Amino acid sequence: MQAIEPAIDPALEAQLEASRDQRLESYFELLRIPSISALPEHAADCRRTAEWIAAEASRIGFENVEVTPGVPRPIVYADWLHAPGAPTVIVYCHYDVQPVDPIDLWDTAPFEPFVRDGRVIGRGSADDKGQLHLHLRAAEAFFSTRGRLPLNLKLVFEGEEESSSVFIKDWLPANRERLKADAVVISDTSFFEGNRPALTVGLRGMVYVQIDVTGPALDLHSGGYGGLVENPGNALARIIAELKDRDGVVQIPGFYDDVVPVTPEQHAELEAMPFDDNEILRITGASRLVGEKGYTPLERTGYRPTLDVNGMWGGFTGEGSKTIIPGHAHAKVSCRLVPNQDPGRIFEALRDYVRQVAPPGVSVEVRDLGHGKPLVVGTDDFVAQAALEALEATFGVKPFTQRGGGSIPVAEMFETVLGHAPVMLGFTNADSNAHAPNESMVLSNYETGIRTICRLWENLGGRTA
Ligand code: BES
Ligand code: MN
Ligand code: MN
Repeated sequence: MQAIEPAIDPALEAQLEASRDQRLESYFELLRIPSISALPEHAADCRRTAEWIAAEASRIGFENVEVTPGVPRPIVYADWLHAPGAPTVIVYCHYDVQPVDPIDLWDTAPFEPFVRDGRVIGRGSADDKGQLHLHLRAAEAFFSTRGRLPLNLKLVFEGEEESSSVFIKDWLPANRERLKADAVVISDTSFFEGNRPALTVGLRGMVYVQIDVTGPALDLHSGGYGGLVENPGNALARIIAELKDRDGVVQIPGFYDDVVPVTPEQHAELEAMPFDDNEILRITGASRLVGEKGYTPLERTGYRPTLDVNGMWGGFTGEGSKTIIPGHAHAKVSCRLVPNQDPGRIFEALRDYVRQVAPPGVSVEVRDLGHGKPLVVGTDDFVAQAALEALEATFGVKPFTQRGGGSIPVAEMFETVLGHAPVMLGFTNADSNAHAPNESMVLSNYETGIRTICRLWENLGGRTA
């Protein structure tokens, strides 16, 4: 009989096995702090979360633990650099979470986590506190069994990823020396549909704007003035309708100019992936898949840019009817970008186009709410290869490589500022409901993910920097 090789050192496994309950309680503790970066009233909670993480990092064995002073949503930095000759790896995760509304669609309170059907339910369980926590626990397994890590680690845990990562964009270049490393690992992505392990090799970029349409100085009687003045609500609807045609093609001049086309090889590669429309219909509750004409679903999320309304408001939205021409109307609109679209150029093109299509009689302002650049990485380097190997050894199936449709605004800067294309090793189930009600993390993904990280560190620690 062939002996089954354990995926990780049995001593680590024993430590992890013995600490399972305690680990879950600690995970819950982290989830209970409502670290919503978008809402200023939660700034203190963000700082409290950073301090919780910093205390944990020190307790486990990390050194030089720092919560960046003077910012509402600080970065937590910590390192352990006593493995001379071994590589140094930066680990990036974020501890902030998305707002919880619409709150009435949650089955339970978002910040009171619990386990149901093998999943941890709660805001941040998957995106991204669960993954951050998993890194702390993997490190703890090494520290508590051996008193050391197999390699050098620098933790960078951000607190405003969900709000366009403003502070870290200055912090990263300012800390170039301190952040010297051989590789960067980001754990903030998900598995492929059907919970198939996957390494993410692309992220889309982002431009986020708010469109404010202003008309009459105040709400007007729609009988007395209807037919006399432009209605900001109608004007906004017209503007939004002009942004895409019926085939889902964005109408902003120049929008697609810099888009790198899908090659026939990439097309074939995507066709070979077991993508199931019905699985997406199940997850989303949508009645059919819709998107840019001429492209498959995986091309549309991985290789093509998009434009979406995130919210619209204005005028009377209460119960019953009120006959007015509202004084103003608003929309939040975002574009997902792909190589080689430049967020700055796309913002300008979008702003100019909105001004151009706006009907006369209203004034329109397009405000820039944040940018992020797209990123595509290879899998040739040793860390990506080791990550694929560790996924396979711990989850027991060959991992896919995939382009994620989401964005991590700072990801591209690890390459352009620090010189290391990040390895995006995330563990979230594709049906995690990230950003939505009833967010969840499959507990076995979290548990096995810890083993994946242990195996990866062990493997990398055996190499010379
Ligand atoms: N973890 C996601 C990014 C992600 C999602 C990557 C799915 C790959 C697949 C991240 O927390 C996120 O949601 N980012 C925001 C960024 C935005 C606020 C600038 C996003 O993508 O909407
Ligand atoms: Mn995230
Ligand atoms: Mn997110």
